[in-house]
Amino acid sequence: MCSTNDVLSADLIRSHLSADYRKNNIYVLPVVDSTNTVAKEMAKSGASHGTLIAADEQTDGRGRMGRGFFSPKGSGLYMSIILYPHQKDVSDVQMLTVAGAVAVASSIEKITGLSPKIKWVNDLYLRGRKICGILAEAVTDMKSGSIASLVLGIGINCSTERFPEDIQLKAGSLGVPLNRNALAADILCRCLDMFEDLGNEKIIEEYRSRSLIIGKRITYIKDHAEIEAVALEISDNGNLVVRRADGKVEALSFGEVSIQGDLT
Ligand code: BTN
Repeated sequence: MCSTNDVLSADLIRSHLSADYRKNNIYVLPVVDSTNTVAKEMAKSGASHGTLIAADEQTDGRGRMGRGFFSPKGSGLYMSIILYPHQKDVSDVQMLTVAGAVAVASSIEKITGLSPKIKWVNDLYLRGRKICGILAEAVTDMKSGSIASLVLGIGINCSTERFPEDIQLKAGSLGVPLNRNALAADILCRCLDMFEDLGNEKIIEEYRSRSLIIGKRITYIKDHAEIEAVALEISDNGNLVVRRADGKVEALSFGEVSIQGDLT
């Protein structure tokens, strides 16, 4: 368990919310395939902005690039937030991803005193191990082809001790007693506050200050080839600017990079 009395509940999450969000819809399920899958279905059925779906366990937690997200019972926080974007284009999704990483890192720091670092684009690392993944997904309006709603899915390993073999050298947990209800509430409030002001430069500044990747040697795959580079900076729109080994400077807007060497 995350702490001796840690029971995830909608009422307890609500009790930690700021007054502005206390009337939001909050659903807590003991077990679910994926909170993002549920949230997307709810968004299609008209669920309101700021609805939160959280679960104590996921049987089919989903990650980026088609991967799974290990979500055992009682030792993690698995939550999805339904949002209705102001701009109906992909720039909102990218900035939402950036804002989500900042929100979760800040909330973890507030609730636990720990300071996780952000690995571009939105994984959080602590003591060299991934302790949180974020999956932002868009629900498209079939008629117009524009983005109808966004689902921000957040998975945090709070006290998970054993991971499957394929991730056991990379994954880690917060490893301190914490109140998941307070953490979920703080993340929800921060995400909703930031969502109203995604263009605010303080978000990207905070993202940069928490970045794990700047100055590090990295590799990534492009056109089936492995590229070696150095991470130079995060641009204002959240792109990762890199200098490749061949001297070319390029901005990456999506995808996955591997950091070579030290991950702390
Ligand atoms: C990643 O690491 O690639 C992203 C992982 C995102 C996991 C969270 S857990 C809550 C929500 N529901 C899911 O199925 N995925 C996200």
